[in-house]
Amino acid sequence: MSSAKSNPPTPSEADLRPSGLKPAEHDEATAVSIEREELAVVSDPRGPIAEQFRSLRNSITALNRDGGSHTIVMTSAVAGEGKTVATLNLAFALAEMPGTQVLVIDGDLHGPAVESYLELPRRQGLTEILSGDLPMERGVRRTAVERVSVMGPGTLPLNPSELLGSDRMRALLNELKQRFTYVLIDTPAVTQVSDASLLGSKVDGIVLVVRLGKTPRHEVEQTYNNLEALGGNILGTCLTGA
Ligand SMILES: Nc1ncnc2c1ncn2[C@@H]1O[C@H](COP(=O)(O)OP(=O)(O)OP(=O)(O)O)[C@@H](O)[C@H]1O
Ligand SMILES: [Mg+2]
Repeated sequence: MSSAKSNPPTPSEADLRPSGLKPAEHDEATAVSIEREELAVVSDPRGPIAEQFRSLRNSITALNRDGGSHTIVMTSAVAGEGKTVATLNLAFALAEMPGTQVLVIDGDLHGPAVESYLELPRRQGLTEILSGDLPMERGVRRTAVERVSVMGPGTLPLNPSELLGSDRMRALLNELKQRFTYVLIDTPAVTQVSDASLLGSKVDGIVLVVRLGKTPRHEVEQTYNNLEALGGNILGTCLTGA
């Protein structure tokens, strides 16, 4: 996966205002084409980065011997290693397999970026669903890529860890597994906040995103050990910047 070429889209202040988000219009996101260069599985499907994500996909599907639905947390040791880009590319690669329905949840309730990368308007999402203000179906948005849906973070809460660690979150994931083959959850870095570690024990697997040449080896090892000690099942690593 190539090195950074552009800055991550930063949500504007208005995007992050703690109120006033509307529910998504039905299927509005399907009209927005995926344009960003980093989303290589869609923007450069024959290129080497797309191939690397297909190879990660193949490793993950090979581990899934029973062919059942899976929830996967995408995280990293430190910020900016390429989690959000990797989550989206892996989702696109998984959805290339016929019959595979994929949902990306933006579980980074500190610095959400999934909607920005997809150039979608900010809408109600995970927070409203967990607080019972939005029915689950209204928070799931189909995208322009067939078989890939997203659930944005919604209004950023004051207590992200509490929400993500709640029994409601576990119940929501179980419900989503009835509908999607893979549910990928983008999260903040492990050394920043406890959210990814908390979620890691509630899902079927964790993919650790590592930017080569950036994160010191001992930090990656420590993160790996911490996630496992908390009951997380690490499926593998996704190297970015290679
Ligand atoms: N495969 C890639 N090719 C090119 N650029 C990439 C790639 N992956 C990530 N980047 C770039 O690296 C930067 C960080 O990526 P990204 O937003 O995915 O990281 P992150 O780990 O989600 O960050 P944060 O911890 O802030 O959520 C962005 O500028 C992005 O464009
Ligand atoms: Mg991110």
